[in-house]
Formats: sequence, C-alpha cells, structure tokens
Amino acid sequence: MAKQEDVFKKVVSHAKEYGFIFPSSEIYDGLSAIYDYGQNGAELKNNIKQYWWKAMVQLNENIVGIDSAIFMHPTIWKASGHVDAFNDPLIDNKDSKKRFRADVLVEDYCAKIEDKENKEIEKAAKRFGDAFDKAEFVATNPRVLEYRAKREAILSRLAKSLEKEDLADVKALIEELEIADPDTGSKNWTEVRQFNLMFGTKLGASADSATDLYLRPETAQGIFVNYLNVQKTSRHKLPFGIAQIGKAFRNEIVARQFIFRMREFEQMEMQYFVPPGTELEFYENWKKTRLNWHLALGLGEENYRFHDHEKLAHYANAAADIEFNFPFGFKELEGIHSRTDFDLSAHEKFSGRKIQYFDPERNENYVPYVVETSVGLDRLFLAIFSHCLKDEVLEDGSERTVLSLPPALAPVKAAILPLVKKDGLPEFADKIFNDLKFDFNVIFEEKDSIGKRYRRQDAIGTPFCITVDHDSLNDNTVTLRYRDTMEQERVPVSELRRIIDEKVNFRTLLSKI
Ligand code: GAP
Repeated sequence: MAKQEDVFKKVVSHAKEYGFIFPSSEIYDGLSAIYDYGQNGAELKNNIKQYWWKAMVQLNENIVGIDSAIFMHPTIWKASGHVDAFNDPLIDNKDSKKRFRADVLVEDYCAKIEDKENKEIEKAAKRFGDAFDKAEFVATNPRVLEYRAKREAILSRLAKSLEKEDLADVKALIEELEIADPDTGSKNWTEVRQFNLMFGTKLGASADSATDLYLRPETAQGIFVNYLNVQKTSRHKLPFGIAQIGKAFRNEIVARQFIFRMREFEQMEMQYFVPPGTELEFYENWKKTRLNWHLALGLGEENYRFHDHEKLAHYANAAADIEFNFPFGFKELEGIHSRTDFDLSAHEKFSGRKIQYFDPERNENYVPYVVETSVGLDRLFLAIFSHCLKDEVLEDGSERTVLSLPPALAPVKAAILPLVKKDGLPEFADKIFNDLKFDFNVIFEEKDSIGKRYRRQDAIGTPFCITVDHDSLNDNTVTLRYRDTMEQERVPVSELRRIIDEKVNFRTLLSKI
C-alpha cells in the first residue's frame, strides 16, 4: 500500500478513536459522505471558526458578520445560475456500475503524470546534492518538460470542452487516455451527462400547496440578498465586506476522501463589495491576505500554492484556489473569486428591486462589484488535523502520537492531573481546575498512570499538562509539561493562567497575519 494511503488511514482512525470525527448515524451503518464532530472535533472546529471570524470581522473595521437562513426563496437559485449551471459531468462504468466525475478522472490521470515529474526532480536532487538547481532542471530536463507539456495539453482540452459543454469530447478524452475504473480496471464507459448538485426539499403542510425549495449549496447568496439591508443599517461606504459562517449542502456524486468532500459541510465566506473597475486590485490583495492567514497557522509555506483557474465559473472574471498539500496531494482548500456584479445584477433583475450604491466620490449610482473569499471549514479542519498528526520515536526508543495543533486551536488547553488519587492531591488539582475553567477549556483526569495520561493528552493536542504531586501541597507549585518538547518545569500555581494564556490566546496567532 502506498505511504500516502497509510497516512490517510491513520488520520481517519485517529479522528474517530479520539472523539474528533465519527461517521454519521453509525449505529445504522452510516450515511455516505456525512460526518459528525465529536467532543474534541467540535472544540477544534469552533476554534477554527473563531480564528477566521476574528481575522475577518474583528480585525477589519469595514467587515461585518451575518447569519442568514439555510432555506431561501427558490428564485434566488434561478438568479444565481445554480438551477441551470450548478452541474457536475458524470460518467458511469458499465461493468462496475460505479459513477464517477468525468473531470476528476482526467484530473487524477494528470496528477499521476505530475507524480512522475516530481519523482524525476527528486531523483536529480539526490544525484546532484547541494549543486542541484531545481529551477534550471525543471526548465531544461527533456523528461520533465515532456510530462509537463502532456499534462498541460490534457487539462487545457478538458477546460475547453467543459466550457463549451462538449461532453462528447470529455468522453473521447477519457477513451484516448485509456482511463480505467480505478477499482476494477474496466474501460467500458457510458456517455458523460450533467447532474445538478442541489438538494431539493419542500416547504408547506400539504402536498399540493407545498413550495419546492433547495438546501443552499453555498452561503454566499445569503450575503448577496442581504446586501441592501446590511449596507443601509451598517452605513458602510464601499469598499466593505460581509462575512458569514454556515452550512452548505451539495449532492456530491464522488464524495470521497473523508471530510474533504462532503454532502453537508460548512463554509466561511466573505463578500467584499467594491466600485466597478477596482475589483482586480482587491482580488490580488485578498489572495495575499488569505494566504498569510493560512501561513500564520505554521503548517509550512511549502504546503500551500495558488492555482489560477483556466475555466472560470459563470460569475467570475478572475479566480484562484489556495491549494494545500493534503495526505493525498495538493487540492483546493479555499477559493478566491472576482465575481463582478453578476450576482447583485441578477438579483436586481429577478426580484425587481434596485440594488445600487450611490458613490458620493464618483457622484453616480452603480451595482457594486464583488470579490469573494470562500474556505471550507471541514476541509480546513482536515488540512490542520492531518498535518499536525505525527508519530514520533523518542530518545529512549519508545513512540508517541502527538497532534501538534496551533495552541489557540487545541480543543483542550490544559489537563490537570493529580499524580495519585489520594492524600489530598485530587482536591488540590480540583481547585486549579475550578480556577482555570473560567478562562480556558481544561480537563481533570485522575485515571491511569501519569505516562498514559500524558500520551492521551498528546494525542488530542493539549498544549499543557499540569501535574499535582505531594510537594504541591507544601510549596504551591506544580509540574508543567509542554506537549511539543515534553519538557517539564516546576511553576507556582499562581503563574499558570499567565503562562497558558500567553501561548493559547488568539492574539498570538492573529498578530502573525
Ligand atoms: N461561494 C463560492 C463557492 O461556494 P466553491 O469553490 O464551490 O465556491 C468554496 O466552494 C469552498 O468550499 C471550497 O474551496 C472548499 O473548501 C469548500 N467545499 C466545496 N464543496 C465542498 C464539499 N462538498 N465538502 C467540503 N467542502 C467543500
């Protein structure tokens, strides 16, 4: 089995074993591509949300946050283009009866070519050692150039065919590349068809009077339809932004890779309303700002890259993804889109209401343009969780699993551990717990040996363990153990709040952006 698969299996099993993520409805054998967050997962997710909300809403004087409803008027999805164009190209394998996204089959094929390219580069790096010049090698090595040209030609043809809705050519491409069903090897494919990703539901008591609704496939439209309300009541001038965190639903056909692609997920989106003609400048700024926000988490600059879109969505005049190096390779984490005035103009047309801004400097009315940043909360959770999960071999040869989460995001900030369950140590520890609980999410644990308790805290990413022993009763000090270095030091109980706060507060993280 490939190493990547091992890593990914470990991520999934660790998430379950330590109360981060459970398959939904598990006692009924689960529901495909739907997951529940457990006690530690919910805390980590809430902390990620806070990091985003504080960076967007709290730190920007001209961005406000809202919380709009999941059910929305059905005409909104007509106006936004989702009824007509929110489709995936699907293909079925006639032998295995399995359904695939045709574009993903082609992209996976190209990812394999990219792997070969990277292997050539790695081999050369080993051969040339310190003298290796990667840029020079990539620009001149015939094999690498050949792989790259092939990959680019395939992706460009795919983008063109999808843009022209030429599904016959997508199928022809799959056949020409001899792409097989990854599980069975069969190349017996059906035609490619479009499939709308929105979930339908009904509003109303009786079958005849019920209105057909959709579960929102993105949170953005809740922002667009509230633009006038927010602009008027907040009295912000352009440019200003509206942010929102909320659930979105997509009937994903190829729902794979754990919480990477789900049918019910959460988005953190921000629409930045700007004067027409300035959008591309703001778009470039938001690309940089959002990348810096990710980099502040400390997961390594080399694990992020931009991917500029060749095929633009129906609403965009520029678009890029921030990709992250997941255990299964570089994939989209966040989208940054210059959406023009497409959405607001469409809502003007479909609702019959004027959605305009009077610009006192230009002395004119216009429909604002929009730059959007949109990141999947669950995908971000997966990026952070999978990157931070590490197996370490210690100096004495023993092993530990540690989740080296950024401290501000850790579900539990400190565990308070009486060395033994007697001699007044639990009572002393309890006092510390009852004091710290007002500032931090802390836990009290007295079961098992101290070593086992340390390991359990390492596995859920707790930055501090506080051990109470017999000396504590006499000198009011405790042993503070640091998760990452495993160093231990003796500190006065009165210092605990300050030491923990310095490490885990959001200010430390936010000031790096
Ligand atoms: N409003 C724009 C929009 O929704 P998108 O690229 O379709 O754009 C934005 O989605 C982000 O939402 C993606 O970058 C990804 O992180 C997340 N996302 C999209 N579909 C998802 C799914 N099925 N499961 C989990 N996250 C998803």
